[in-house]
Amino acid sequence: MKILFYGQGLDSERWLDAIRQHLPTQDIQLWSPGLSPQWQADYALLWHPPVELFAQQTRLRAIFNLGAGVDALLSLPGRPTEVPLIRLRNAGMDRWMLEYVLYGILHFGRDFDRYRQQQQQQHWQPLQARARETLRIGLLGLGALGSRVGQSLQQLGYCVQGWSRTPKSIDGIDTYSGLEHLDHYLGHCDFLVNLLPATNETRDLLDAHRLAQLPRGAVLINPGRGDTLDPGALLAARRPATCAAPCSMSSPRSRCRPVTRYGHAPRSSSRPI
Ligand SMILES: NC(=O)c1ccc[n+]([C@@H]2O[C@H](COP(=O)([O-])OP(=O)(O)OC[C@H]3O[C@@H](n4cnc5c(N)ncnc54)[C@H](OP(=O)(O)O)[C@@H]3O)[C@@H](O)[C@H]2O)c1
Repeated sequence: MKILFYGQGLDSERWLDAIRQHLPTQDIQLWSPGLSPQWQADYALLWHPPVELFAQQTRLRAIFNLGAGVDALLSLPGRPTEVPLIRLRNAGMDRWMLEYVLYGILHFGRDFDRYRQQQQQQHWQPLQARARETLRIGLLGLGALGSRVGQSLQQLGYCVQGWSRTPKSIDGIDTYSGLEHLDHYLGHCDFLVNLLPATNETRDLLDAHRLAQLPRGAVLINPGRGDTLDPGALLAARRPATCAAPCSMSSPRSRCRPVTRYGHAPRSSSRPI
């Protein structure tokens, strides 16, 4: 069996050592443009491969994506669509996601941004925190990550609801589906957590109109892909307070300041993102 490895930004030597340890009898190669075209892999373990890889490797039987998000691979020209694509699931990413989302919820839900401001102004004024049961957390995307994050937040006592393309039934979470319900849904989110994949259908889904549906003071946490957010609309969204919290740097659109409340209406705070 021949196995090809390519991982943009990954420590290739470490990966190769580990793979060879587990599969000591297999022929394992790191992909490079100079790899002999005679050497054709059966299986490819990939993270953000270049277009040339698929032009060179034409006998693949399966592609293993070294992560949960397959957005980049799906949109790569030349990917052999007839070859099965397998991605990681339950590989620990859901916990990282949960921590990231919780950080955003705690930061704004418990007013740590305002306490930080007060500290800078050498001022101390206790603020009334809202009970977590009253904080409406809205998830966009109820897939492998969205559903796990949602269930964990629900178990922590938050009021969780979720929206996806097709109807879902998840214990403890109110679910909605379809574009026709999105505006109404957004109007009931104190925190909006975007865990949608980047596809042609989701590109700029959160545009000016949709951001304007969020209640005043709402916070947007974006651990998904930046492409689903219209950056101009986000910057212009002065009425609903929004926060961009991307943990993916794969898109230039994601390069906003992480976790920033923007233009919160009741108390003035308009730091630019
Ligand atoms: N930042 C990071 O470090 C990081 C790491 C891993 C993943 N991610 C990203 O996180 C996102 C979610 O990952 P996942 O593993 O949960 O993906 P997933 O299992 O494929 O789930 C995607 C969810 O989005 C929904 N969806 C897809 N297209 C939609 C559309 N056009 N309209 C409405 N809903 C739509 C799906 O709805 P249906 O189920 O109804 O189809 C599903 O609920 C992806 O963008 C992934 O790339 C980010």
